Amino acid sequence: MAREWNPESWRGLPIQQQPVWPERGALERVEARLKRFPPLVFAGEARNLKARLGQVASGKAFLLQGGDCAESFAEFHADNIRDTFRVLLQMAVVLTFGAKRPTVKVGRLAGQFSKPRSGDTETIGGVTLPAYRGDMVNAIEFDADARRPDPERLAQAYNQSAATLNLIRAFAQGGFADLHRVHRWNLGFVAKSPQAARYEDLANRLSETLDFMAACGLTSESTPQLRETEFYTSHEALILEYEQALTRVDSTSGDWYACSAHMLWIGDRTRQPGGAHVEYLRGVKNPIGLKAGPSLAPDELIRLIDTLNPENEPGRLTIIARMGADKVESGLPPLVRAVEREGQAVVWACDPMHGNTIKSSTGYKTRVFDRILAEVKGFFAVHRALGTYPGGVHFEMTGQDVTECLGGAQAITEEGLRDRYHTHCDPRLNASQALELAFLVAEQLNAERVEDRRLQTAS
Ligand code: PEP
Ligand code: CO
Repeated sequence: MAREWNPESWRGLPIQQQPVWPERGALERVEARLKRFPPLVFAGEARNLKARLGQVASGKAFLLQGGDCAESFAEFHADNIRDTFRVLLQMAVVLTFGAKRPTVKVGRLAGQFSKPRSGDTETIGGVTLPAYRGDMVNAIEFDADARRPDPERLAQAYNQSAATLNLIRAFAQGGFADLHRVHRWNLGFVAKSPQAARYEDLANRLSETLDFMAACGLTSESTPQLRETEFYTSHEALILEYEQALTRVDSTSGDWYACSAHMLWIGDRTRQPGGAHVEYLRGVKNPIGLKAGPSLAPDELIRLIDTLNPENEPGRLTIIARMGADKVESGLPPLVRAVEREGQAVVWACDPMHGNTIKSSTGYKTRVFDRILAEVKGFFAVHRALGTYPGGVHFEMTGQDVTECLGGAQAITEEGLRDRYHTHCDPRLNASQALELAFLVAEQLNAERVEDRRLQTAS
């Protein structure tokens, strides 16, 4: 029989990727405060997202998850939130049009403040300090004070998440996300892109569709779906003291929900069966994600699914594959086949970022646009070959005009990385690279749809 779960049953189990908090008492005092803070999300919203993801699992919707690698306290500004939200909306419109299916929008924001790292420490010029683990834990500057984990940061992350979410909710419902506005931004992007000719066709067809809908009386005034949008939040559940403090019983169902975000995911480095992160997430009823890198064996994945989604509830579990462009076509099929064999309903999403990180000759951690696109294409090819549904994409991106990833239509070069390299952790797609990728994925989705229709008509 499965052992009893409660919000603190993860404590005492093996746990990876944790800071060494200097003083237990200070951490406990912050946890006690967080326990009294209001939940950031309502259980009913998490249930709605689970239902939406259930639609993705059955091939009726597409998932777009994206945002910062790591949010930061220093870059907390309404303009940054607005710009990232805006690009996500722009991408979603393009994807919806390509897939002819609703796009479920989930931000990596309003809580994405903690990071797993490749080492516990960092050494520069003979000095060794604790690694930076995200603004929720310590500061990025390389000095002993900054790198000392400070539990007060958990409360600051909560406050910043609350303010971010408040603004996003206002944008989503208050007219900012109106489909016609979002489409106008896209037309502006296409006009400026060096690849304009490539994207114009899709953009023009979308313009015509909106004109046709307006002629039929479907306008922003008449139709809330055109005026407003649904948007959800997510982050990696890494610091479990924080997650536990925001875990609440839903009064309508009596179930436990993680109330720090609508969706939480387990990182590739903390997904040990029997480990603390898997234990915590198995007990909350939110939709959850599981990162799947090349080291995940099919039988281990099945074990994890049995633990995390024992009732095989569609929408509960999204497997976020992050294999790398050169490994996706060999690494993904055994996982998909194992899941199919077990009859498990999951969402398959593609994170083409984390398996494609390299070091540039100029010393920057970076990613190449074409490799990112190649992984997405490989992911689609695997699902097409196996007859399964490629449910979504997961990007690290920002609305700012940064220079962190190489290539794209702007053709960012190794030298160019120097100009605006601002990330606190991994290199992000900038606004135009992210949108460009959305256009290319939409082309692919559209081609797949046309091919499916052709096969249906032929049979
Ligand atoms: C991330 O999504 O930022 C991350 C660290 O990913 P992964 O767990 O897949 O390495
Ligand atoms: Co990252």
